[in-house]
Amino acid sequence: MIIFGSFGCKPQIETKNTLLQKEIAQKVDSVLGLMHLEEKIGQMVQYSAGWDLTGPPSSESAQNKIDQIKKGLVGSVLNVVSVKEVREAQKLVMENSRLKIPMIFAFDVIHGLKTMFPIPLGESASWDLELIEKTASIAAKEAAAAGLNWTFAPMIDVSRDARWGRIMEGAGEDPYLNSVIGVARIQGFQGDDLSHENTIAACAKHLAGYGFAEAGREYSTVNVGEFELHNTILPPFKAAAKAGVATFMNSFNDIDGIPATGHKELQRTILKEGWNWNGFIVSDWGSIGEMVGHGFAKDKKHAAEIALNAGSDMDMQSYSYERNLKTLLQENKVSLAHIDAAVKRILTVKFQLGLFDDPYKYCDEEREKNNIYTKEHLAIARDAARKSIVLLKNEHAILPVSKNVKSIAVIGPFADNKDSPLANWRAKATYNSAVSLLEGVQAKVGKNTKVYYEKGVELTIPTVKPGENQFMFPLQMNTKDRSGISKAVAIAKKAEIVFLAIGEDAYQTGEGRSQTKIGFAGLQSELLEAVYKVNKNIVLVLSNGRPMDISRANTILPGILVTWQLGSASGNGIADVLFGDYNPSGKLPVSFPRNVGQEPLYYNQKNTGRPSNDVHVTYAGYTDSKKAALYPFGFGLSYTHFSYNHLKVDRETMSSEDKITLSVVVKNIGNVAGEEVVQLYIRDLVASVIRPVKELKGFQKLLIKAGHSKTVSFVIDKELLQFYTINKKWEVETGEFHLFVGGSSATKLKQKITVE
Ligand code: NOJ
Repeated sequence: MIIFGSFGCKPQIETKNTLLQKEIAQKVDSVLGLMHLEEKIGQMVQYSAGWDLTGPPSSESAQNKIDQIKKGLVGSVLNVVSVKEVREAQKLVMENSRLKIPMIFAFDVIHGLKTMFPIPLGESASWDLELIEKTASIAAKEAAAAGLNWTFAPMIDVSRDARWGRIMEGAGEDPYLNSVIGVARIQGFQGDDLSHENTIAACAKHLAGYGFAEAGREYSTVNVGEFELHNTILPPFKAAAKAGVATFMNSFNDIDGIPATGHKELQRTILKEGWNWNGFIVSDWGSIGEMVGHGFAKDKKHAAEIALNAGSDMDMQSYSYERNLKTLLQENKVSLAHIDAAVKRILTVKFQLGLFDDPYKYCDEEREKNNIYTKEHLAIARDAARKSIVLLKNEHAILPVSKNVKSIAVIGPFADNKDSPLANWRAKATYNSAVSLLEGVQAKVGKNTKVYYEKGVELTIPTVKPGENQFMFPLQMNTKDRSGISKAVAIAKKAEIVFLAIGEDAYQTGEGRSQTKIGFAGLQSELLEAVYKVNKNIVLVLSNGRPMDISRANTILPGILVTWQLGSASGNGIADVLFGDYNPSGKLPVSFPRNVGQEPLYYNQKNTGRPSNDVHVTYAGYTDSKKAALYPFGFGLSYTHFSYNHLKVDRETMSSEDKITLSVVVKNIGNVAGEEVVQLYIRDLVASVIRPVKELKGFQKLLIKAGHSKTVSFVIDKELLQFYTINKKWEVETGEFHLFVGGSSATKLKQKITVE
């Protein structure tokens, strides 16, 4: 039976979809009618039953978990992956429980299952929605082939603080970019039909505010006002709800004193009632129980009461629901209506996935063998890698390098690193399986080019055995062993050009990886200085999961390429750019600061009453640093150049119900074809709630041949001009707006319009 998911459907199948929704609703009701209270509560329970630990371990024994599953008292498990293991786990419930309600299997498939794509932040630098949807669809295909039905992605937390380790998981600092990229990822994971064998349910996370953790400190408090919440943090979640994401995950943090997991306004009032969204909300790992730690609940029973009343439908790993909901119901502290509603939401997604038709439908060994880590997937990973790279500096056109260059020195801890490009949240990637930079370079050049390699310094001292999972464990930096630096200097001396591969280890970002320093850790700066002394012709090939402090390198080096952690095909993607087989087109999804003291740093700030002034100190800014980013949001160079001319509007005034068309002519004024991300920003000059100095509202990525021009148009309408006003509604306010167009958020090309 084909069931078109009621979530994620395109408008043309709406009617069919509505019928199917009704059909599913009837089936859900009939299943619910058969269920005992314990079985209902069981559907609201999720265990980590697998071998990957992605949160603090619990004292619950494996046998206990198995017994509960057999009784049909567990709705979902996470971290069980592979057809064999999923089948085994599903059998426990199908062969032993009274009602045989299939479990739903979840995993953090964040940037691929085995074929690794660039980290989400890196891939966001492509501004290529089609590509992003494609890589998510491949991740879903591989996950579904490994028995999974549900990924905890995309993360759509607007994140503006480079210190926060999880900045690598989202689309950066801008609400609009997070919205459109989040939707592309959801569409990639879910497709048009959740029951299709290659699609899985997505999970928009973390509702909400997690990216605003104070001082970038993981799991910390969040203090944002109501207008900031609605105008900046919630738009990507609203877009995800509208796109039909099957599930949401709430977050660990509190917002102004209320933990998100126990936040009724967020979960019930805004998401479920306000946005009329019908999927289910899973808690984050243990976050229901963590309300005790917050000092918001006196014990787990109290926490369960708060969480359910606030709208959290499924308890991930805190055991609060399974142990307390029954008593809470007897004590009238929670209602059967809330339990039933949560169970219905969960069962609905299971029906949509087709699990009731065949609980083993994602358990097909043939598909697992043929659909994972294929040549085709790796080719797309390479394309994604090269499109995610951002060229920040290219003095004297040091790049691209000729393939006939006499000699190259590839130096640094990431030069021949086959593991770090796989990044954190690497799902089932094989240890050491990425193409290293060195391999990518060697594959590119001819026989006459000499390629030298030296690591120079080790960045870390191992704290786990090679290939063991580093996820839960801290890194230790090497601050003593300099023995390799002289060898690196020796090859730098004899090479025409140096590719200096330094930056961050994969596990310097991700969950639990906040840092107070964002420069080059360990001895990397010493390596840089030593190499620079003997060869000035250096391209910094930066490995990073966050915007880093690269100020010193930026002052002295002629070439800088931001290469994030690019996944399985990393080295080939980088080599494509270094040697000009691909003209870089990436643009920063986050501002690069001058130093950590500027964080949180983002282009779409509100103005103060005292915008900076270079003469006096009594203006908003710093006395020891410029206020502006080193490289702003939206910035990225190409091997060609683009000019922007003839910016015009078809009229200068409109009512809030009208539309204005803005157009601009973009010309490729260089010698090679290139892609440009044409960006549209607005500024609402005077408003009932202060608006940012600029806000991204649209973009188009275009390929333009050398010497050619393209006219780019944007429609300015209500949707684009509105915001959450003093009336606590999304409205357009009358008055003057500036529209900016250009190749980065620093553009000054503008046009005024007035809304009457
Ligand atoms: C905690 C993380 O915050 C969340 O994003 C993830 O999905 C869960 N652990 C499960 O691993």
